[in-house]
Amino acid sequence: MKKQIIICMGSSCFSRGNDRNLETIEEFINQHDLTEEVDLRGSRCEGRCSHGPNIRIEHQVISHMDKGDLLEVLEDQLIKSKGE
Ligand code: FES
Repeated sequence: MKKQIIICMGSSCFSRGNDRNLETIEEFINQHDLTEEVDLRGSRCEGRCSHGPNIRIEHQVISHMDKGDLLEVLEDQLIKSKGE
């Protein structure tokens, strides 16, 4: 089953970093050849703007996401979890 990543594309999250986070996710997926394993979608504002930028991975919402944290989470969720 595909892992679902939902990135908030609301104006607050987008301007606080999800514009760059989206590029980072897309690059990561391409570099690791994960297009068949990841369902990447955008969402509208989910009312958590003050905690943004927000990204939901599976059922977990991760707030204040910056590039360093994002790469760590992607590595954990998409690469390391494959070996389990
Ligand atoms: S813009 Fe992302 S929660 Fe509001």
